This record gives sequence, C-alpha cells and structure tokens, in this order.
Amino acid sequence: MTGAEASEPTMTLPERPRAAGRQDWTAWPRYDEAGSGYRGYWYPVTWSSHITKDPKSYTVCGEKLAIIRDDGKAYALHDRCPHRGVPLSEGDQQFPGTVSCPYHGWTFRLTDGKLAAVITDGPDSKICGKLSVQTYPVQERLGMVWVYIPIGSEPATSIDDQLPLELVENEGIVGGRIQRRGGNWRFACENGFDEGHAKYLHRTSLWRLFKPMPTWNITSIVPDGRWIYRVQDEVYWEADFPGVGKWTNKRWWKKKPDEGKISQIGNTGAGLKVNPVIAAQNFPGFASLSMPGVLRIAYPTFIHYEFYVPVDEDNHQYVGLMVNFVTGVKKLGFYAKYLGAIRWLFHGQFSGQDEWMVRVTDAPPEKLYRPDVSLTAWRNLAEREYAEKIAAAVAYAPDPPVRAAREHRKPVARNPVAPASEATAPGVEAGATPATGTTE
Ligand code: FES
Ligand SMILES: [Fe+2]
Repeated sequence: MTGAEASEPTMTLPERPRAAGRQDWTAWPRYDEAGSGYRGYWYPVTWSSHITKDPKSYTVCGEKLAIIRDDGKAYALHDRCPHRGVPLSEGDQQFPGTVSCPYHGWTFRLTDGKLAAVITDGPDSKICGKLSVQTYPVQERLGMVWVYIPIGSEPATSIDDQLPLELVENEGIVGGRIQRRGGNWRFACENGFDEGHAKYLHRTSLWRLFKPMPTWNITSIVPDGRWIYRVQDEVYWEADFPGVGKWTNKRWWKKKPDEGKISQIGNTGAGLKVNPVIAAQNFPGFASLSMPGVLRIAYPTFIHYEFYVPVDEDNHQYVGLMVNFVTGVKKLGFYAKYLGAIRWLFHGQFSGQDEWMVRVTDAPPEKLYRPDVSLTAWRNLAEREYAEKIAAAVAYAPDPPVRAAREHRKPVARNPVAPASEATAPGVEAGATPATGTTE
C-alpha cells in the first residue's frame, strides 16, 4: 500500500443550491414563540349582548376565562375553581357581585376574585378570604367585550391607545361577525395583510363579481406611527407570462378598471366619493396593520377591520367589523345593506376563502417571494414592538418575573373552549363609537 493510497480520499460535496427566500422564522424569535398570542394587549372576546349573569367560557392567548355580567358590568375571571379545578363558567350566581362554583359552592367576588363564601362549609369557613382567582381588566367598546391579558402584574394599558384612532374619535355604526376558526392567529393575520393573495384567491368571490382585481402590483410597505401600510406603487391589470400566456382578471361583465389611476382607497381603482371621515385619515395605503393583529382596509364608504384573537396554537377567533361613519337616518340604510348583502358576501363567502387558506397554511418552512415584503414587514413590526413591551413590563415588575414564557405555552385541551352557540355570532351590533360603555 502506498502512502497516497493510505490517505483519506478528499470528498467534494456538491454545492447546495441557494434557497430562495427565507426558510424559517429565526429572524423573528419572539414572533416564532408567540403561537398562543402576545400577552399585554386587549382582545375582543364576544358581543356585549352575549354576556349575561350566566357565566360563559372563552379562551384567549391560551388563558381560560369565565365572563359574566353583574349590575350592568362585565367581569372576567380565570375559569378554574382552585378547589378541584372545575370551570367557574359551569357555575352560576348565588349572591349579587359573585359567581359560585357548581361543585361545592365556593363563591368568588367578581371585582377582585377573592373567595367570599364557601356555601358547603358554613358562614365561619376558615378558608374564606384566603384564596382568590385571577381577575382580568374588562372594557366594552364597539359593542364587544374586550379583555386585557397581562404579561405579569403590570397595569392594563389604555384600550383607546390600542384601538384604531378613527374609531375612538368618530361616531360610526358597526356590522360584524365573530367566528371561531381553525389555524394559528399568525396565519390569519399574515393572510389579512398578504399582498399577493387577494387578486388571485378572491377573484372568484361573489363580493368581487362585478369588480375587477389587478393581476399584479408593485407594492411598498410604509410605516406610520404604530401602523404599517401597503402602498400600491404600480398596478397591472393583465400580463403576458413568457412561454405560458396572457392572464387577466378582466371579464366582460366586470366594471372596467380606471387603468391610469392608482387608488390608495380600496383595491379596485378609484371610484366612489370618499366618506369625509375616511378621507380625513389620509391613510398612505388602503391596507394597514398594527399590533397585536389588527387589520384595517379602507374603502371609499366604509372601513373593514379584522381582529385576529389568539385562542391557542391551532385556533383563533376572527372578528370582522365593517364600520360606516354615518349618522341619523343613513344608519338604517347601512343596516339594510349589511344584513341583506354584506354579511353574506363579504363576511361570509369572501372571508370564508381566507378562512380556508388560514386553516390549511403550514409554515415554516417557507420560501418567500417579492410580494411577501408585507409579511416580513409585519413580523419586523411585531418583533420590535413586543420587545419594547416586554422591556416595559419587566421594568414595572421585575419581581415576580414577567411571565413572558407563557406566550408560547401550549394549553391543556381539557375543557371546551367556547360554547358552540358563542363560536359563531354573526349579526349587526349597534355599537356606536366612541365607547358603548365602560365596565372596568
Ligand atoms: S371544585 Fe369548585 S367548589 Fe369544589
Ligand atoms: Fe383575503
């Protein structure tokens, strides 16, 4: 054997092809971990009219909540009796200002969660006052009950600082749909702001039956305050794809697009007169997004909002609101239009196409393409804002440690999340803005 033969052969690995786009979410570590949602925000849970003196069960950010109304105010408590773990939402009210567990009658005060009476241990029960269940700040806005899910022991932020400003400052009317949906909340949020999908996925929707959609756009993402906006720089209504053929969304029965004009209100070109409240906002782009997953789509006569409420890793709650900034008798016209058409076409079939895609999305891994700048810009925004929020929460309460780790805790699927009757709650809610009531 020669020396040359004794040496290890040199192995040349084939060069790995460079992958297009990003593969995983390591560039956004907090976002990657936030499968059960971001704590430290207000979330809309249900319509105000659904909260009565009978407690009901909801899950937000993996947290089980029992929500109940007493003397006009809504309250949220951790939905677990400390005695044997029975959900308080299975119980009822035996005394004003309290809720009683159905098993042995442990009775908790709604204001602070303190154990106020133990019915089966007599009036001198020694355990009274020694235990409590966690309570959560509650507010009512836009005809809905909102709950603040804390990071640690920090005080709740102002809900008005989180709501879109135009909803706080202007009177409007709301039609909407709240629906429990499969799929992680991040897929729903990314779908809402996704630049590429609407033109293709929704081209078959009845909502778009007479309105053409572009074939492709050049879009940039513009930050402004706590929002990012999709700005349409160039719009192409048809295109020749080399070696494949021509493709367009134009049809003889659809309205002809105004090809010379790029509108930042609505995505089908300029058209209707813009409502003065909407025009006054001067939105840089018609689609915008803010934390913790609030989408705003500005059309000439209304603004559509979507709130993606994290339930757990595999489910979210879709809250779709259409807000018209009209007063007086014009409200009646909106209700007729909402119930007669919009609710079914827009919040139904159109939004159902999104629901379908969110349910079947499976990422990462992923390979992004040019229009996905909308997704990466959102993830960058979320990463930055949540880092600031965690820093502020730590500064407020360094001891005990902030429960940041809970944001990615997988909840134990022991209890039903929401009653079926609550999961789908379409309807018109006469939620005037500003606030319909303050309950905290
Ligand atoms: S489990 Fe709630 S009172 Fe016993
Ligand atoms: Fe969509």
